[in-house]
Amino acid sequence: MAMLRAAEVKPDVWWVGGIDWNERNFHGYTTERGSTYNAYLILDEKTTLVDTCKGEFAQEMMERIRTIIDPAEISYIIANHVEMDHSGALPVVAKACPNAQIVCSGPQGLRGLSAHYGENFNFLPVKSGDTLSIGKRTLQFVHTPMVHWPDNMVTYSAYDKVLFSNDAFGQHFASSKRFDDEVGLPEVMAQAKKYYANIVMPYGKNVRAALDGLAGLEFDMIAPSHGVIWRSHVKDVLEKYALWCSGEAEEYALVIYDSMWHTTEAMARAITEAFMEMGIPARLFDLKANHMSDIMTEVLSARYVAVGSPTLNKQMMPTVAAFLCYMKGLAPEGRVGIPFGSYGWMQAGPKDVATALEACKFQLPCGVITHQWVETPEGLDAVRDAVMAAIGPLHDEAR
Ligand code: FEO
Repeated sequence: MAMLRAAEVKPDVWWVGGIDWNERNFHGYTTERGSTYNAYLILDEKTTLVDTCKGEFAQEMMERIRTIIDPAEISYIIANHVEMDHSGALPVVAKACPNAQIVCSGPQGLRGLSAHYGENFNFLPVKSGDTLSIGKRTLQFVHTPMVHWPDNMVTYSAYDKVLFSNDAFGQHFASSKRFDDEVGLPEVMAQAKKYYANIVMPYGKNVRAALDGLAGLEFDMIAPSHGVIWRSHVKDVLEKYALWCSGEAEEYALVIYDSMWHTTEAMARAITEAFMEMGIPARLFDLKANHMSDIMTEVLSARYVAVGSPTLNKQMMPTVAAFLCYMKGLAPEGRVGIPFGSYGWMQAGPKDVATALEACKFQLPCGVITHQWVETPEGLDAVRDAVMAAIGPLHDEAR
């Protein structure tokens, strides 16, 4: 392999991570742009490595580090997060850095890393607010529990004005460039949104607490553990996180369905038309043609979520059940649900959808919208009218 390079992101602060160009599925979340596992090397009196990477990328990371220093010179390895996409390379790195202490959050990080890799590492657990002098720099640690696991923390360098944010503010986005302004904001922000919706959304309350915890810190760069580094759009991504974690949604509707003989599909189109008629932007998603992680990106913004299934074998279709299970786990707050679907002799499919949307704590102002056998123009008019009658007043209130 041609020699891999490190990239200097601030004077004496080097990116030394791994680029995962071909990752396309991260725990069921489609990563069409791949990902990166970012690690950062800080050169000071006590050389410090911030995070490692996925196990398969250990050699790539070590090669980048060796272009800068002999790894034996590393004094501290900061493990901001236990999850294996950041700690998987720790055994390899610890072996190459026999003099390093492994800094992690206590007690959660210590417990997690010990469970994964044994207790033989030279751990230095830190509490939230603790500092570590490494020479010119004094690093500060802020615990950010549940952004993304209980152990998470971020590392702040006031000297560099850099926040090493680990999972927070990340994007699954592989690139040969390291900075937000080198790849274009719309694409990066779209990936940051997908990442938030599919990974961070259940922990909005914790994100709010984390943002409060970071409020007093002055930084002009956010260096996350996935994707590109924020330097020109720090304010933009902070504003987006504040919005996303607020749970607020837009007057925007999604109509999501699967269908066997097109009746539920026809109902989905009638519901989409109803939203269009009310002046509410809407998007239609056939679950056979769209990945649920892409739909969840839209759920992050959408106040209205209509979900339809016909009845198959006395229940909703498995594709719809899988989507509803996934959405429940990601816990969007304060949404309006519209369960709908067709049936022959048993209303089980649409009723299952209603039960699942109630389990998501969605408000269901339309009740369950059903249609027996094949669609008729009158039947579809009734579907459209039912949606407009229930949603119209909510939309008027919001305007
Ligand atoms: Fe990127 Fe929670 O790991």
